[in-house]
Amino acid sequence: MELLRLSKITKSYRSTGLIRRKEPVHALRDVSLHIDRGEIVGLVGASGCGKSTLGRIILRLEKADRGELWLNGCEMFQAEPRGASFAYRSLVQMIFQDPFASLNPAHDVAYHLARPLLRHGLVTRGELESRIHDLLHMVGLTPVERMARAYPYALSGGQRQRVAIARALAVNPKLIVADEPTSMLDVSIRMDILNLLARLRREQGLALLLITHDLASARYLTDRLIVLNRGVIVESGTTEAVITNPQDPYTALLLDAIRNPRLERRLS
Ligand SMILES: Nc1ncnc2c1ncn2[C@@H]1O[C@H](COP(=O)(O)OP(=O)(O)O)[C@@H](O)[C@H]1O
Ligand SMILES: [Mg+2]
Repeated sequence: MELLRLSKITKSYRSTGLIRRKEPVHALRDVSLHIDRGEIVGLVGASGCGKSTLGRIILRLEKADRGELWLNGCEMFQAEPRGASFAYRSLVQMIFQDPFASLNPAHDVAYHLARPLLRHGLVTRGELESRIHDLLHMVGLTPVERMARAYPYALSGGQRQRVAIARALAVNPKLIVADEPTSMLDVSIRMDILNLLARLRREQGLALLLITHDLASARYLTDRLIVLNRGVIVESGTTEAVITNPQDPYTALLLDAIRNPRLERRLS
């Protein structure tokens, strides 16, 4: 069943430097896609192609110039023109590339999880601790009592990203947009986080939009791939079809990049 649909999303940025560029940057042009419930879709493309812009528009942290965003069959830009409502936030959550920057160093893990639970009125004070422990358990941060009291600086990169995932899960979302969630982590830890996301889909029926320039991660985790090049979707299909038989020359180039690390550095 369809969860999210974007129709002809277009977004440009005007340059705002001292020397004003005449040409705006066309970050996204007529981008249309859908994500079904419980589906893991990869959004791949080189750096600067518009992936994060699309993620922010889905989160409604930013507004598109044109186009429609449908969630559960309801067009959102019309229904809530001023940005994401509380209700929207409880359905769509995001995790970012840098888990350290997204956590507050002055507060422990429990605080980060308590905030969304209390703000969204999901628990009473009495239920709070056990719900925090449930969330920590769900993302594999154990022993939960000790992890709840830990501060971000005392955690590894992988553990911090697990906290960020637990915080996103706190409001029981149906969709998580993950923008390069493993690219700042050690290679050995990346797989653990990808496996965690796969398990959450299996156990909770969560849908995921995995934004990445890393086709290897996308191949491992996703059902379907959407390839973006300079703000335009150049190819989409099942992950296996796109990877084994790319129809677009740009996709073929991205695939070469996985096999040739020097080219990858240039593209990312
Ligand atoms: N807030 C902004 N102001 C101006 N230009 C931006 C802004 N955000 C993104 N851009 C530009 O839009 C394009 C797409 O950026 P982005 O969505 O961050 O790409 P990606 O995540 O694929 O690396 C880039 O050319 C970038 O410079
Ligand atoms: Mg980005």
